[in-house]
Amino acid sequence: MIFKPNTAQKVISTTFLKSRILARPLSIVSFDNSQITVDLGHERPNHVSFQTIFLRDACGSPESIDISSRQKSFSTAQIARNLQLAEDPIVVDSSEPTLHVAWKHNDGSVSESDYGLSELRKYSSMKNRMAGKFFRDQQKFWNKSDLIKEMKSLNVDYHAYLSGDETFKKVVNSLNKFGICFVNGIDDPTRNPQTQALTDANTGLWPVSKLAKRFGYIKETFYGTLFNVKIEADAKNIANTDVFLPLHMDLCYYESPPGLQLLHFIQNSTTGGENVFADSFLAAQHIRDSDPEAYDALKRVPITFHYDNNNEYYYYLRPLIVEDPYVRCPETGNAQIKEVNYSPPFQGPFEYHVTRDDDPVLFDAFIRGMIAFEEYVNNAANQYVVKIPENTCVIFDNRRVLHSRLHFSAADGGDRWLMGCYVDGDSFRSKLRTYNRD
Ligand SMILES: [Fe+2]
Repeated sequence: MIFKPNTAQKVISTTFLKSRILARPLSIVSFDNSQITVDLGHERPNHVSFQTIFLRDACGSPESIDISSRQKSFSTAQIARNLQLAEDPIVVDSSEPTLHVAWKHNDGSVSESDYGLSELRKYSSMKNRMAGKFFRDQQKFWNKSDLIKEMKSLNVDYHAYLSGDETFKKVVNSLNKFGICFVNGIDDPTRNPQTQALTDANTGLWPVSKLAKRFGYIKETFYGTLFNVKIEADAKNIANTDVFLPLHMDLCYYESPPGLQLLHFIQNSTTGGENVFADSFLAAQHIRDSDPEAYDALKRVPITFHYDNNNEYYYYLRPLIVEDPYVRCPETGNAQIKEVNYSPPFQGPFEYHVTRDDDPVLFDAFIRGMIAFEEYVNNAANQYVVKIPENTCVIFDNRRVLHSRLHFSAADGGDRWLMGCYVDGDSFRSKLRTYNRD
């Protein structure tokens, strides 16, 4: 039976509705071709009006979503044109109370959709929709003393990490929460005849490669799949010298900078060379609280990041602070910080707001914010300083945690050899979601 489109909304009688609410937690309150209002139950009436186009678009039937590929078989625009209800929607008893809707499409075809109560509840609020996709509400911004308190849980064993899911899941969640963790007890690759030096053929045999591949795959960059950090005579990167390396993030001049960086300390017996880490999100939050105008400027003024050397010219403009407009703090409603971009050694001349006739107020606020940010992350109380032991790999969120290295000297005969690689933030967040799926 085809439901005749009626501009007037159909409303179910209150007496009938009350009896249905008592009888089960899902009931239909009203409907027309543009919306279906349902009561999602619990103790009190909880009315939610879903757009019919949303419902049709979200249909999970085998005709709409391929069972094997899980890909959608239609476009939003396709189903949105003149979408109508073919019959009155009903609630049916299945494994859970289910809203059943028959649709009439612009081409005259009819399709059917079912929406279980749990799915309807999931889409009934922004908080529920974001659950299981973004985990920013679990992030804990840290200063030095905060991180030191967490050190026990942020250190895991290499073999436990590689075997089974328990330890790796813990690492994935720690990386979301704090943006850093340490994997200890790594087999010394110099004792393995197959890993005496990095070659194209033995990439997969190095411990750092095995650690990275638990997230999925390694993000290759112009440094290679894996890269050595060692002193080089004619270094093209200051990482490969013994000088102090200020706090920074890697590859901000890429369109998609790496989400995670892994650094395996194969040798670290030189004098000095401690690593410094700082939580840029805490610094950003500090500025948001103390100087909102500067915070706003840090989101708006693009910083030039480039690598113009060695016959390569990488270039990208991005602001210091990037918020995610789609993910808001449930308590405050503030957009949450998505990433920070800070890498003074790879900064180029500014392109915008650099003349006094081009919004000097904004640029002044931006500079005030940059000074406040640097003061904050360079304050010892906000830094975790550590001489990372040999056979340990640090993994950190390159879009959040700043890293630095103090000057070191091999004059006393020590050696320093790190091997590193990157992992896309997408791979990391995919693991975060699948490990925390309900
Ligand atoms: Fe770096």
